[in-house]
Amino acid sequence: MSRKLSINKASRILYPIYIEHSFENLSSCLNELELQDRKICIVTDSNVEKLYGEEVQKAASASAGKVVLYTMTAGEEHKTLDTVKDLYAFLIEEHFDRKDLLVALGGGVVGDLCGYAAATYLRGIDFVQIPTTLLSQTDSSIGGKTGVDFDSYKNMVGAFHMPRLVYMNMSVLKSLDNRQFASGMAEVLKHGLIRDGVFYEWLIDHFPEINEKDTEILEEMIYRSCQIKKSVVEKDPTEKGERALLNLGHTIGHAIEKYMDFKYLHGECVALGCIGAAYISYKRNMIPMEEYYEIRDMFVPFSLPISISEGNPEEILNLTKSDKKMDGSHVKFILLKKVGKAVIDTTVTDEEITAAIEELIYKEEV
Ligand code: GLY
Repeated sequence: MSRKLSINKASRILYPIYIEHSFENLSSCLNELELQDRKICIVTDSNVEKLYGEEVQKAASASAGKVVLYTMTAGEEHKTLDTVKDLYAFLIEEHFDRKDLLVALGGGVVGDLCGYAAATYLRGIDFVQIPTTLLSQTDSSIGGKTGVDFDSYKNMVGAFHMPRLVYMNMSVLKSLDNRQFASGMAEVLKHGLIRDGVFYEWLIDHFPEINEKDTEILEEMIYRSCQIKKSVVEKDPTEKGERALLNLGHTIGHAIEKYMDFKYLHGECVALGCIGAAYISYKRNMIPMEEYYEIRDMFVPFSLPISISEGNPEEILNLTKSDKKMDGSHVKFILLKKVGKAVIDTTVTDEEITAAIEELIYKEEV
């Protein structure tokens, strides 16, 4: 069975999210965009091209006038303005105009970078997301956040630009390495924590099937996770308010990601950041101590870290200051009132953040 969700007009553009089991229906989905006289540039990376480049190019060729492929080098370190510049040059060379379309085929790095190029090339052209990691399927491909890193600042330059459609082929997850899969699970668990306690419990109950990548369970999980993301971004597409809830775990998480020089995957850092946020919530008596420990320990069955072996809390704290999630001089921190209910708080102090980071640093039991 395939499934479909639609993001509604409140987010400025109506677009479908197809949850499929293969690329078989990609061509008919692209046909909805009436591309017969248009060109498509598939933007992908050196890893994904080898796996799915040919198949997706074939499906796109059945729908569009001409299809070209742009392959960037894989890796977060290439999510830069230099790569965007190179892509612009390629599009100019290939005579891409406003009617033409970009297709992001890959994980979050490709999706964010391609989306940003689409948002800015000729003041904005259409693009489609074909996310190939669990993280990009459940989070980054939905909601129109696009951008690149700038120096050591993650996603510092970007734009909101909604895709025309999102096409997920869940079968690609079978070939995803376990660490990448776990990284995506952190965002899925995050969606449960912020919005839906019943879904969170369902994830915990089904962790063996999820880890085995059982097709039906994955479909249910991705569908429900996308529903949560969709409901948040529909109400607040440009993050004026409640969309910030999706940043649970990201203030401390991004800081650890930078501190570790990107040796930890994004989702691994989000898991650590969620634990930090749960710790502050517990210390403020917003959730009981048992709930904090339960939240922390429930990342373990999904192969996510719950501590770092070493770290300098002061340096990590300083890295939280360069994050985008600031409101004036205050960090817009996301705390938990309970599993399934997150709140925005601008009063979290440096001392509280430091204590949470210290809690995350592994201590030998005595
Ligand atoms: N990943 C957070 C958001 O899309 O707002």
